[in-house]
Amino acid sequence: MHFSKAGIRFDVCHSAEEACERVLAPGVEYLAVLTDVNMSGMDGIEFCTWMSKHRPDVAVVVMTAFTSMESAVSAMRAGAVDYIQKPLHMEGTVNRMRRVIDARQLQTRVERLERALHETRAHDDLLGASAAMKQIYSLIKRVSDTPTSVLVTGETGTGKELVARALHNGSRRREGPFVAVNCSAIPEHLFESELFGHTRGAFTDARSDRVGLLAQADGGTLFLDELGDLPITVQPKLLRSLEERVIRPVGANQEQSINIRVVAATHADLDTLVSEGRFREDLYFRINVIRMHLPPLRSRGHDILLLAQHFIERYARLMEKPVTGFKTAAAEQLLVYHWPGNIRELRNCVEHAVTLTEYERVGLEDLPPRIRDYSPSHVIVAGSDPAELLPMHEVERLYVQRVMQTVDGNKTLAAKILGFDRKTLYRKIERYEKQARAGG
Ligand SMILES: Nc1ncnc2c1ncn2[C@@H]1O[C@H](COP(=O)(O)OP(=O)(O)OP(=O)(O)O)[C@@H](O)[C@H]1O
Ligand SMILES: [Mg+2]
Repeated sequence: MHFSKAGIRFDVCHSAEEACERVLAPGVEYLAVLTDVNMSGMDGIEFCTWMSKHRPDVAVVVMTAFTSMESAVSAMRAGAVDYIQKPLHMEGTVNRMRRVIDARQLQTRVERLERALHETRAHDDLLGASAAMKQIYSLIKRVSDTPTSVLVTGETGTGKELVARALHNGSRRREGPFVAVNCSAIPEHLFESELFGHTRGAFTDARSDRVGLLAQADGGTLFLDELGDLPITVQPKLLRSLEERVIRPVGANQEQSINIRVVAATHADLDTLVSEGRFREDLYFRINVIRMHLPPLRSRGHDILLLAQHFIERYARLMEKPVTGFKTAAAEQLLVYHWPGNIRELRNCVEHAVTLTEYERVGLEDLPPRIRDYSPSHVIVAGSDPAELLPMHEVERLYVQRVMQTVDGNKTLAAKILGFDRKTLYRKIERYEKQARAGG
């Protein structure tokens, strides 16, 4: 009666066994149970133990006799969150139960938010809805919370560093450090002491101890950027550290153990470097356990517009300008352009456009000249070796495919770019498909 009056919804059970059945049944999600201790069958203490095993998310409060302090203690040990002494003071009981329920609700909400935050943090600002990016997200999800080394490859500006951070943030190591090392920025003679540290007096300039980058990354993630530029002279020592999980600073007699996860990135072709003897094969195998290849922006179809829209909103906010999107001609040109600098180039292009435009929607004239004036006829389909040169109909087929890919299968736009009417384009595509079926 008192719970009803207080607006707390409840069910009554006549034994602990009945309560066990209730809390496991689908339907009502209970937040709390108020139980007696002395009951026939399963008693209140056994019930607390059972609950903390089967429904740890439901709070249990026990009612104990004033004289029985031990049962209160055993109940708390068995997982009860609180106890109320009998005889019950009804108003106090209702208030206690309400506090327990509120706390449970809050906790559930916090847990849900944490999960949601974690999910978004797992890919940071990684945007993109293309099939290629969905594959990347799913791979990130599967490997982030593992100790496995990951090699991220892709052209410049495709988001390799962003993926490395997403891997870190999606792992248990996210509270630990993320240490990025740009292998192309460290002079060769300093590499060893940068990576492994040194002791005071280890060499002429070593005036004090220095903690190396590997030790700084202890408990977290070491991001080796531009891995292809790692000097061959330090590669054996790095390999040993990764295999044995120890480092020895330059000049030190003692090794210290470290716990790091390695993510590396490169736009160089490591296979070639290995075959030319410029990169050690054993280190390559050690790091290239999982390979993630980021697609170039030009092959990501409408992701181009999605990212462009994201950057428009960002720069409009930053510059406090009422710019909201693109005019059709500008959007089409973004899809046609080949984006050698990938997402970084797109971001800079949008920044340029938002800075200059005087309209709400960015027009063709607001784009940087090299993008505005780009014409896809500059694309070379064949190689330069005479043996590789193609007959005209084959060039046309490859080029039509390339355009179709770039516009994500939008035939109207493809026909416009190619200068065909739509019927002609349909006919050609149909013929290519027929040839492919006959050939395959
Ligand atoms: N999928 C994405 N969504 C949103 N922004 C992205 C995405 N990928 C990359 N970016 C942005 O593009 C820029 C370049 O990304 P990043 O520095 O990770 O590229 P990179 O592959 O490491 O390039 P480089 O090889 O030149 O070092 C960054 O500003 C990054 O935030
Ligand atoms: Mg980078």
